[in-house]
Formats: sequence, structure tokens, C-alpha cells
Amino acid sequence: MKLLIMGSNGQLGNALMAEARSRGWQAHGADLPECDITRPESLHSTFSSAGAMDAVINAAAYTAVDAAESDAETAFSVNRDGVGELAGLCRQKQVPLIHVSTDYVFEGLKTSPYLPSDPVRPTGVYGRSKAEGEALIRDLLARHMIVRTSWLFGRHGANFVKTMVRLGKERSSLRVVDDQVGCPTYAGDLAAALLDVAAYGLQHQNGWGTYHYRNEVPVTWYAFARRILALAGAYEKLQVAEI
Ligand SMILES: NC(=O)c1ccc[n+]([C@@H]2O[C@H](COP(=O)([O-])OP(=O)(O)OC[C@H]3O[C@@H](n4cnc5c(N)ncnc54)[C@H](OP(=O)(O)O)[C@@H]3O)[C@@H](O)[C@H]2O)c1
Repeated sequence: MKLLIMGSNGQLGNALMAEARSRGWQAHGADLPECDITRPESLHSTFSSAGAMDAVINAAAYTAVDAAESDAETAFSVNRDGVGELAGLCRQKQVPLIHVSTDYVFEGLKTSPYLPSDPVRPTGVYGRSKAEGEALIRDLLARHMIVRTSWLFGRHGANFVKTMVRLGKERSSLRVVDDQVGCPTYAGDLAAALLDVAAYGLQHQNGWGTYHYRNEVPVTWYAFARRILALAGAYEKLQVAEI
């Protein structure tokens, strides 16, 4: 199996590269600054240097949820327009695209787990940009899988787990919200699932569409922080206050 992995320097991208290597698959990684998905000529040159490939996995994204509110132009440029360029090139090259998306495409008020068939209703710029990127893929490329995930954490890059471990060392007390529920998802597990679905789609030429992938247990941010701090051995000396 030969893959082109976009966003290979990011949190998930690193996990994808590691997972592909561990399976003995060939993986050509691409990321900024050499490869910019918003620049068609840059994408073309990445495809040329990658050579023949079985599938593209896209982990490249503008992921700064809060900053997106004041930088909508960049968020839409990467998460909608860049993704559209990528899907168009995949169609031209007749290569399937496995694309990663987010629970932010929903408004987040449902009290049971969201299903892939639920209508999207993003409330912020980041969620809208990701939802519009998804829509472009569906319009442009039949052989695609869009895999939405939530609360990602991995060995590489910044995430909630690392922030809590650091703050657990630096501070004597922490306050963490307890009114949002989600499913923390380990980047290594998601990477393995993405390679599995890519292999399935290629082998059976079937199963294209939209999926949700997350680790098992729903928790609040507060409960997640408690668990992280307990595992980091910092819980006893800390008070984690509910808000
Ligand atoms: N993190 C989460 O909690 C979470 C939750 C649900 C879904 N997701 C989705 O999961 C996917 C991976 O997220 P992640 O946490 O691995 O994100 P990440 O660590 O921010 O990685 C994204 C990568 O894409 C690169 N990138 C940004 N703009 C680009 C461009 N124009 N061209 C090419 N590459 C570009 C980034 O480079 P720079 O760092 O240099 O900008 C970075 O290396 C994304 O689709 C995200 O929407 C993430």
C-alpha cells in the first residue's frame, strides 16, 4: 500500500506516518511549508514527487478553533478551498481521498451521540469551514471517506492532555468546565482506523461515505482532567474545581 499523507507534521499526521511505517506501508508525507493545500501548484508538485499512490489521507487543516473566529479567511482558505483543490486533484488522478473532519460541524446540543446522517449545523467559523470542505469533497469525488472525530490527543503536538499535565506541575489548583461532554480520541487509534478503512475501500471498492470515529467513553472536560491528573500523579496535590 502506498499513501500520500497530507498534514504529516501535525498531531494526527505524525501518528499516521508512524502507523503506516509500522505496517510496512509506503507513506509520502507532505506539510507546510513545502506543501500548501491552498496553492494548486504546490499540491500538483507534491503529487508529482509522491509518484503513484493508492490513496490520499488528509490530516492537513486549520485547527485553531478560537482564532478562526477572527481569521475566517485563513480557516475557509485551508478547510474549504484547499480541501476542494485536493479533492479535485484526487479526482483528476483517480485516487480515493480519506479526509478527517470534526464534531464541530454539529451545534453540539444533542444529548445522544451524533450520527453521520444527522444534519450539520455548525455554530462557529471553524465548524462552518470544515462542513463546507466536507461538502466540496462529496460534490467532487465519489471515492471518498470523511471521518469525523473529536477531542483528539496524541504524542505529537499540543493537546488537552499535555496542557493538563503541564498545568498540574505548574499550578496548585485548576478550574475546568464540567458542562460539555465529548469523547477523547487517541491519535494513534484514529490513525490505525483510517488506514484500516482506506485498505477496506481499496480492496472492496466499496464503503465510501461519511463516518464517525471516537474512543469509547464520553466524559466532561472536568472528568477528563481528573483522570489525566490522576495518571500524571498530580491529582492528590490539586483541587480541580467544577465551574
Ligand atoms: N485536534 C482536535 O482536537 C481535533 C478534533 C476533531 C477533529 N480534528 C481534525 O483532525 C485533523 C487533524 O488534526 P490535528 O489535531 O492533527 O491538527 P494539527 O496538529 O493542527 O495538524 C494539522 C497540520 O496541517 C498543517 N496545515 C495547516 N495549513 C495547511 C496548509 N495550507 N497546507 C498544508 N498543511 C497545512 C499544519 O501545519 P502548521 O502547524 O504549520 O499550521 C499541521 O501540520 C484535522 O482535520 C482536524 O480538523 C482535530
